[in-house]
Parts: sequence; C-alpha cells; structure tokens
Amino acid sequence: MTITRYVLNEQSRNPEARGDLTILLSHIVLGCKFVASAVNKAGLAKLIGLAGETNVQASNRTALCSTGEEQKKLDVLSNEVFVKALVSSGRTCVLVSEENEEAIFVDAPLRGKYCVCFDPLDGSSNIDCGVSIGTIFGIYMIKDKDSVTLEDVLQPGTNMLAAGYCMYGSSCTLVLSTGNGVNGFTLDPSLGEFILTHPNIKIPNRGKIYSVNEGNAKNWDAPTAKFVEKCKYPQDGSPPKSLRYIGSMVADVHRTLLYGGIFLYPADQKSPNGKLRILYEVFPMSFLMEQAGGQAFTGKQRALEFVPRKIHDRSPIFLGSYDDVEDIKALIGVHI
Ligand code: AHG
Ligand code: MN
Ligand code: MN
Ligand code: MN
Repeated sequence: MTITRYVLNEQSRNPEARGDLTILLSHIVLGCKFVASAVNKAGLAKLIGLAGETNVQASNRTALCSTGEEQKKLDVLSNEVFVKALVSSGRTCVLVSEENEEAIFVDAPLRGKYCVCFDPLDGSSNIDCGVSIGTIFGIYMIKDKDSVTLEDVLQPGTNMLAAGYCMYGSSCTLVLSTGNGVNGFTLDPSLGEFILTHPNIKIPNRGKIYSVNEGNAKNWDAPTAKFVEKCKYPQDGSPPKSLRYIGSMVADVHRTLLYGGIFLYPADQKSPNGKLRILYEVFPMSFLMEQAGGQAFTGKQRALEFVPRKIHDRSPIFLGSYDDVEDIKALIGVHI
C-alpha cells in the first residue's frame, strides 16, 4: 500500500471529494521526497551551515527567518521547495510558512481551496550534526478562495482537515492523518514511493518517557517543575521516567507517538508563550496526537481549541499519552 493509493482510498470514502486533497497531498509528498534527498546529501553538497553565509572571508551575514532565528541553507531550500510544490498544485489559496514573515496569497490562475501552514524544516539546530529533522504541515479548507484574508487562516486547530510530518532520519517516515486515524509511511528509495509501514498508529495510554529541555528548568513555573520532579522521583513507588530530548520537535513527537510518554515545551519566565509556533508546529502535532488517542494541552486549554491572533504566534504545549497529559492537567488544577 503506497501513500498515493492510501490517500485515493480515503478520497473514495467521501463521495463529493473531487480529488483536490489527493492532488494537494501528492505535491506535499513530492516536496518531502525532494527535501529527503537534499538532507541525505547536505553534508556532501555544501548544504550545511547558515544561509547567506558565503565563506569565512566574506561577510558572515546570516539570513534571519520570520522570527529572527538564523536560517540554515536547508531551511531556505526546503522552504522554496514546499512553496513551489504547494503553489504549483493549483489547490492552495494561502500559505503560512515559518520562513516567511507574511502569509503567501496564491495568484488567481493557480488558486485552490486549501490553506497550508508548514514548517519546511523543523529542528534546524540539528542539521549540521546529521541528527533527525523534519517537515510539519497542517491543511485547512478556505470558505471563499477568491476573497481569502488572513482572518481565514487565524482559525482554531479543530478546523484542520489533515496534518502530518515527514521525518528525515535513519529512514524517511511520513506520518499523516486526514481525520480518520494516523498512518505512517516509510520511503523506499529504490521505488521512490512511501510504503505503509505503521497502519493505524495508536499512542499508548501512558509512557515511560518524558521529553523536555531541562536546560530551561530555572525558568519553569511551579506546576511544570512539580511535574518533571514527579517524573524523576515518583511518589507512588513506580520507577522514574526516562528523559529523552532530541531537540527536533518532529523526532521527539515521533518517538512519543510510537513509544508513548509526554513531550513538553512549557512557557517560562523567558518565553511566556513557550517557543513552538501554533499554526505549523503545535496544531499539526496536536491533531495527530488526538487522532492517535493521545491529547495536547497548552497549560490552559485543549491545544486545538486555541485561536491564534497572528500567524507566527507561539503557545506552550504538553502533548502525548492521554494519562500522562492528565497528570499535568491535574497539577495545573484545570479539569477541562
Ligand atoms: P525550527 O528548527 O523549525 O525552528 O524548530 C525548532 C524547535 C523544535 O524543533 C524543537 O522542539 C525546539 O525548537 C527545540 O528548542 P530548544 O533548543 O530551545 O529546546
Ligand atoms: Mn526555525
Ligand atoms: Mn520547527
Ligand atoms: Mn523550521
């Protein structure tokens, strides 16, 4: 079962579907294949290092992405690949990318009815050392594609039709949900096809792993500190949880989805809204977690119910195994 056949089967489930989502997803898959190949030869093809950096002698001007982070060459290349793939699909009318300050509105001849919010390359700090990185995307339907505005994009994650990520690691794995469960596909480089390898992924109700950047501990609020403390020194006699933190959200979330446990990027005094971006990191991963039987919580509410005010807004996030997230909700004293 290839991803193409899977998506076509899904499409045949909704009679009124005209194949637009299938065509859109096939262009996203093409983008993932291209980036996978670029990531695999990044070290050889001088794609390592910062964008804008020419060589040691020349100015070390580095390009900055929409939120002032340093852009890597692969960030820029991946962004160009996905913008081109999404626009040329003829199925999108507005795009939101981590690497573009403003939303991209597609010109009339190529306009379609979907909005795609994406992080073309997630985990950029891990590019230069070859640790897993990825692409994250979320797909919405836009009411009127010929009069689309930013308001249409600033909607709660509950309106998402589909979401997924592609992880460029020891193998290239694409995890996708179109609202009917979660499935994982692994790229067979000899075929150039994503093959269904993880059908109907369900996250364990509780896990033995917690995943957080402990380096931020001094800035955490009390409930977060208490939760992490309980992971390390459980009071109920259960064994301590293991800490696993890769620093690429895609890799940390993928491991959480398959093994169970909790991933958290909490707010802290330094970053009161946390670090992760709502539209193209928090929402897609929250959608997948819920579709796999887990949950996602911002510290105040169900993550998917949050309504962003600006396209690069951030939110704290606690996501993963249902019961593990319940523990943090109890500590924060919110019964939602
Ligand atoms: P990006 O590379 O797209 O900017 O995202 C990086 C994010 C995410 O991948 C990861 O979970 C987080 O940054 C790690 O942040 P810290 O290094 O602060 O832990
Ligand atoms: Mn970034
Ligand atoms: Mn990211
Ligand atoms: Mn990124």
